[in-house]
Amino acid sequence: MVNFIIDGKKISAEKGTMVLEAARANGIDIPTLCAHEAVSRSGACRLCVVEMKKGKRAKIVTSCLYPVEEGIIIETKNERVMNVRRLVLQLLMARCPESDVIRDLASQLGVDAQPRFAADEDKSKCILCRSCVRVCEEVVGVSAIGFSCRGADKAVSTPFNEDSAVCIGCGACAFICPTGHIEMETTEETRKIWGRTFKMKTCDVCGRYFAPEDQLKYISKKTGVPLKELAVCTNCR
Ligand code: SF4
Ligand code: FES
Repeated sequence: MVNFIIDGKKISAEKGTMVLEAARANGIDIPTLCAHEAVSRSGACRLCVVEMKKGKRAKIVTSCLYPVEEGIIIETKNERVMNVRRLVLQLLMARCPESDVIRDLASQLGVDAQPRFAADEDKSKCILCRSCVRVCEEVVGVSAIGFSCRGADKAVSTPFNEDSAVCIGCGACAFICPTGHIEMETTEETRKIWGRTFKMKTCDVCGRYFAPEDQLKYISKKTGVPLKELAVCTNCR
């Protein structure tokens, strides 16, 4: 075990635990956007910054990527941290001027609604955190999306922006996206995502539409569970 202090509280955690998890496990809240437990970390949003003191040195680190160390002192809300976090939010607001999630976070932290930096013209809500790409690759296992272009034009998309033949319409990318960038429209019978329309399957017991047919076929193929057994929604299992 490793012993350290967060916001004046003595804490012990297993070696390898990130400061963010140690803080949360002890009821200390640190705002985040891109850290999701289902996928590996990118450190893209920088919202989770904290101050880490070791001996006489103090520096700003991203808590979602910084493992706890013996004797360190972490401050999650001092003035230096809050100033950096507000600056990060100003930059995120400029990058994603239309993201309600980012605007709400900014208002919670008292960041002026008037942008300090010029807003990006493409009006994307994407912070390029890769969580969508990673969940598709690491959890679902289909790799239907990735990043296209470089620099300012970098964007998440299907290969060549064409309909993805491997996408199963599960919507994991839209669910994990912290800023609401990925558009998904689910009606009773269909789900539209990444330019494709997926047919939804009805539950064999209650008749409710509950999952895209392609997703169920994919799960059946991957797990060997007969399709018939997957044709029942979670409520009726
Ligand atoms: S679309 Fe969402 S999840 Fe994907 S990189 Fe952008 S912000 Fe992250
Ligand atoms: S939550 Fe740590 S960098 Fe985004």
